[in-house]
Amino acid sequence: MKTLIKKISSGSIKQAVKLLKNEEIIGMPTETVYGLGANCFSDKAVLNTFKVKNRQPDNPLIVHISPDYDITNLVTEVNETAKKLINAFWPGPMTLVFKSKQNVSKYVSRGLDTIAIRMPSKPCTIKLLKACPFPISAPSANTSSRPSPTDAKSVYEDLNGKIPLILDGGKCDVGIESTVIDVTTLVPIILRPGIITQEDIDRVVGLKNYDVENIHYNRSPGTKYKHYAPKCDMIVVDYNSKVNICNVYDNYKKEGKKPVILCLKEEKKLYKGKNKFILGKDIDDIIKNFFSALRKCEKKYDLILFKGLERVGKGKSLMNRASKSCGGNII
Ligand code: TXA
Ligand code: MG
Repeated sequence: MKTLIKKISSGSIKQAVKLLKNEEIIGMPTETVYGLGANCFSDKAVLNTFKVKNRQPDNPLIVHISPDYDITNLVTEVNETAKKLINAFWPGPMTLVFKSKQNVSKYVSRGLDTIAIRMPSKPCTIKLLKACPFPISAPSANTSSRPSPTDAKSVYEDLNGKIPLILDGGKCDVGIESTVIDVTTLVPIILRPGIITQEDIDRVVGLKNYDVENIHYNRSPGTKYKHYAPKCDMIVVDYNSKVNICNVYDNYKKEGKKPVILCLKEEKKLYKGKNKFILGKDIDDIIKNFFSALRKCEKKYDLILFKGLERVGKGKSLMNRASKSCGGNII
C-alpha cells in the first residue's frame, strides 16, 4: 500500500473522513503526539489498528471526540470529579476513563468495562473530528515499543506501506502523550502522568489523587509494556546521582562507541568537544523534543545519555517516559 503524507487542509480532511468511513485507518496530528485513527464503532478498523502497530491485544485505545460531542452517548456517568476536570482541561492533553456504555467496538476497551476519552485541542484535529460523523479511536501512531511520533515523518518512518494516509499538522506542541486519569471514582487516579500534572489535578478537584505507582497494573494495561525505546542504547543519569555524565561518556568513547548527550542549550558549555543534542531552553522544550531527539540520535549514535530531571511536576511525567525509553537503565 502506498502511504501518502498530506498537509492537513479541508481537502485532505475530506479524504481522511472518506477513508475512515470506509473502515481504513489514518495517521493524524494532535497536540500531544500523532495518533493512528479509526472509526471507534468499526471492529474491522479498530482491530487493524492493533495489527498495523503490532500492539499487545490487551492494551485498550483512547476515543477522541470533538468539542460538540455529547459524551453521555458513550459513558454511563459523568461524576462531579469528571465535570471539574472537563471544565478545567478539555479540550486539551487529558484523557478520562469512565464506565463505558459498551456501544463502541468491543476491541476499543479490550474487555474492560471502562472507556478512555479525550477531546484534543489542536485546531486542525478539532476540524477533523468535527468533519467526522463518529468519534475516532487512536493509539499513538508508532510501532509498539518505539518512541511516540511527534511529526508526520516519524509516523511515516514506522508505518510506511501499512496505512493509506498521514495528515501532516506539523510538529506536536506538547510532545508526550496525554495525562490519563481514572474518574470512575470521586478520588481520581492518575494512570499515566502527562503535561497536566498531579498538582494541577489536585488543585481543580480539591481531593488528593492517587497516582499509578501505588496501584495495580490491571487498571491501565498499557503501562506495563516496553515503551518509547530508541534503537540504540540509552542511559539516564539520575538527577541526584553522584555519577558524572562526562565520565560515562568518556568511558564509552574509549570502548570505541559513539555516545551523545541530550542537554539544554545553557548546558552546552559543560560538554565541550562532546557530541550533544540540544533539546531546547527549558523543561517544556525537553518534553516537546524528547521523543524526536531519540529518533534522530538513534540514526547517528550508539548510546544516548540523558541527565534525568527531578521527579516533580512535569519533570515526573518526563521521567516516566525517559525511564521506559532506557529500559530502566538509570544510574
Ligand atoms: O496523547 C495521547 O493520549 C495520544 C494521542 C494520539 O491522543 N494517544 C495515546 O494512545 O497515547 P496510546 O494508545 O499510545 O496510549 C493509551 C493509554 C494506554 O496506556 C492504555 O492502556 C490507556 O491509555 N487506556 C486506554 N483505555 C483505557 C481504559 N479503559 N482504562 C485504563 N487505561 C486505558
Ligand atoms: Mg502509545
